Amino acid sequence: MRIAVAGGTGTVGTHVGEAAHARGHEVITLARAAGVDLRSVSGLTDRLAGVDVVIDVLSVPTISADESTQFFTTTSRALLDAGAAAGVRHHLVLSIVGIDRAPEAYYAGKFAQERLVEAGPTPWTILRATQFHEFAAQMYGRAKVGPFHLAPKMRTRPVAASEVAAHLIDLAATGASGRARELAGPREEDLPRMIRAYARARGSRAWIPSVALPGASGRAQRDGSLLPAGKPLLGRQTFDEWLGALSAENH
Ligand SMILES: NC(=O)c1ccc[n+]([C@@H]2O[C@H](COP(=O)([O-])OP(=O)(O)OC[C@H]3O[C@@H](n4cnc5c(N)ncnc54)[C@H](OP(=O)(O)O)[C@@H]3O)[C@@H](O)[C@H]2O)c1
Repeated sequence: MRIAVAGGTGTVGTHVGEAAHARGHEVITLARAAGVDLRSVSGLTDRLAGVDVVIDVLSVPTISADESTQFFTTTSRALLDAGAAAGVRHHLVLSIVGIDRAPEAYYAGKFAQERLVEAGPTPWTILRATQFHEFAAQMYGRAKVGPFHLAPKMRTRPVAASEVAAHLIDLAATGASGRARELAGPREEDLPRMIRAYARARGSRAWIPSVALPGASGRAQRDGSLLPAGKPLLGRQTFDEWLGALSAENH
């Protein structure tokens, strides 16, 4: 198949591209680093010529509901419109477990994106996954005040981004199937512990305080609303195994 990966340079997108190549698919990467800004792109229909599946793993680093909604609706509309014009048969988007229980802040944009895809012209699949193990690294890099790293309180059931990517390629091969079964990691973790363990593995001895993020999305993170409610598919690699493998790679 010819697969366009929107966000193919990102945390999960890099694994999606690798998994697709490994299974013999042709990959077209759509990202600013590949010369395509999907907020203001022209000629996207031509880029999607001959593409069978668009996999959308774009993201924007924001906690603003307006910014997130603007980003995800603009980019999804661009991909859906150009995809329909180019004859794309399957639009596959990665979303997040539990966002309908807290459609606030960043999750507001993801929720709007899901609704656009469901109402869109192209047969679709939406996979909701829990946070990646890599989310600890993303939070360590982003949740900062000056030189201080913060650890947002959150109950999560993290999954390896590589396993999410492999599953996305399975779903791409299956064809459009609407709401896919949710995907989660093998065990529940405490996000502050994950962030501190990641920091220690990088050699940091800094104090990293836990913080309760404000608003409904912060509350949902703390009270378990973003854990799977039903029976999800389960990834295999635990957070500690992921961190062990990462540390071994870096030595
Ligand atoms: N992180 C998690 O724990 C997690 C868990 C479950 C689901 N998800 C969902 O999975 C998706 C991917 O998350 P991620 O953490 O892998 O994201 P990420 O690492 O932040 O990567 C974002 C990707 O989007 C691209 N991008 C951003 N702005 C763009 C633009 N204007 N035009 C074109 N490309 C653009 C980036 O490339 P350039 O910077 O080169 O443009 C990058 O490839 C998101 O929708 C997220 O909600 C994430």
